[in-house]
Amino acid sequence: MNMKALLMIALAAVGAAAPAAVAAEATEKPLIVYLSRTQNTAAVARMIQQQTGGDLAELDTQTPYPQNYRATVEQVRRENERGYLPPLKPLARDVRAYRTIYLGFPTGACSCRRR
Ligand SMILES: Cc1cc2nc3c(=O)[nH]c(=O)nc-3n(C[C@H](O)[C@H](O)[C@H](O)COP(=O)(O)O)c2cc1C
Repeated sequence: MNMKALLMIALAAVGAAAPAAVAAEATEKPLIVYLSRTQNTAAVARMIQQQTGGDLAELDTQTPYPQNYRATVEQVRRENERGYLPPLKPLARDVRAYRTIYLGFPTGACSCRRR
């Protein structure tokens, strides 16, 4: 399996939002949106960016998670229990300008982050 195929598996490629939401002049260049705490997902996102010539946009929560691993696990566990979705900072790119968007998230608490 070549690097490109591996990267395609590592990050799920999804079509941009419903066609009606895509701007008529949307670019064929992909957008790679990622959330990364310890920069592993960021590294893969950059590889995809290099392979595709796309644009990168980092997702981040408005309130940072603790640096401490166990504190983060405990906080996420409590958030998941009550279905809390942490508010995000505004994305630096307009997703309507892209037809293809890659979304990359770390696995956390046995699932992809729901937001
Ligand atoms: C709070 C927390 C929970 C995690 N939970 C899981 C998990 O349930 N399963 C798993 O395989 N990895 C888990 N990990 C490991 C991360 O998915 C892994 O370190 C990943 O490379 C982090 O990506 P990042 O460097 O882009 O932040 C967890 C890491 C953290 C910090």
